[in-house]
Amino acid sequence: MKYLIFGRKTGWLAQKFNDFLENSLISDVDITDLPALREELDKKKPEVVINAAGITGRPNIDWCEEHKIETVAVNTTGPLNILEACEERKIYWCHLSSGCVFQGRGSNGKGFKEEDQANPPSFYSWTKYWADQILKNFSSLIVRLRMPIDNEPNPRNLIDKLVAYSQIINTENSVTIIQDFLKATKQLIEKRRIGIYHLVNPGSIKPSEIIELYKKMINPNHQFKVISEKDLYKQGLAKAVRSNCVLNTNKLQKEGICLKPIQERIIEIMREYKDNIK
Ligand SMILES: NC(=O)c1ccc[n+]([C@@H]2O[C@H](COP(=O)([O-])OP(=O)(O)OC[C@H]3O[C@@H](n4cnc5c(N)ncnc54)[C@H](OP(=O)(O)O)[C@@H]3O)[C@@H](O)[C@H]2O)c1
Repeated sequence: MKYLIFGRKTGWLAQKFNDFLENSLISDVDITDLPALREELDKKKPEVVINAAGITGRPNIDWCEEHKIETVAVNTTGPLNILEACEERKIYWCHLSSGCVFQGRGSNGKGFKEEDQANPPSFYSWTKYWADQILKNFSSLIVRLRMPIDNEPNPRNLIDKLVAYSQIINTENSVTIIQDFLKATKQLIEKRRIGIYHLVNPGSIKPSEIIELYKKMINPNHQFKVISEKDLYKQGLAKAVRSNCVLNTNKLQKEGICLKPIQERIIEIMREYKDNIK
């Protein structure tokens, strides 16, 4: 077996990796349990580990504000356990982090670079950043994705999330097309790259642009209202402050891994998404 994926069969991205990669297996080991992790690696002997396990909130990151111990155990201590077990066995591994450690467009307005100091807006984001800060000193690959968009309907897909909201805030963001993310991560793994990489499609997009495209291509009757970020919190629609950010992708491009700009790619993905609606 080549790839061992942590994140269980319930994990959205764990499943996506498992479907995409050949010779892979999802492990249901508890990443907070270091002895169990060591045993699993000794039993399965993978060439590469991918950590897609994480607490992303139940149902969303508001949960993390109230469950800090559970969140830090899985999102920060868990990756450190994997680091220890993989370093001991000289196993190369990749950790899924998040661009939500940033807020804004960065000091020069061109998007945050991998080495920029983050300003995490929520407890969930802090737990992801704490792991990044330690892992970047070791031989681990850390890929930061943002607001994943897939060509298949799923409650975790940004298209589904936006369509489910009657009110949206309309701030531009970097986003990640899953199909591009899987391919690019595999390329970085094959090159045995280490350190942090921003894995988002170049450019940025506003939620209203995605929904307008959905209306045009799929459901012209869909209704939505744009509200201010202030109203989102005032109306109690969200507790944890949501990240809105643009990431710089120059580092990925310098590797020769050039994802299509989001404004172009979203049209292709919406077409595939439409075909996949049952
Ligand atoms: N989806 C996004 O919007 C997004 C964006 C940026 C980054 N990420 C990162 O990508 C990773 C995967 O996200 P996802 O969207 O696939 O989330 P997901 O669907 O919630 O999957 C997370 C998986 O982790 C498992 N898990 C929780 N605690 C665990 C533990 N102690 N040991 C082993 N597995 C455990 C969960 O299992 P149970 O069901 O049993 O709890 C679930 O299978 C996370 O680290 C997340 O921070 C996601």
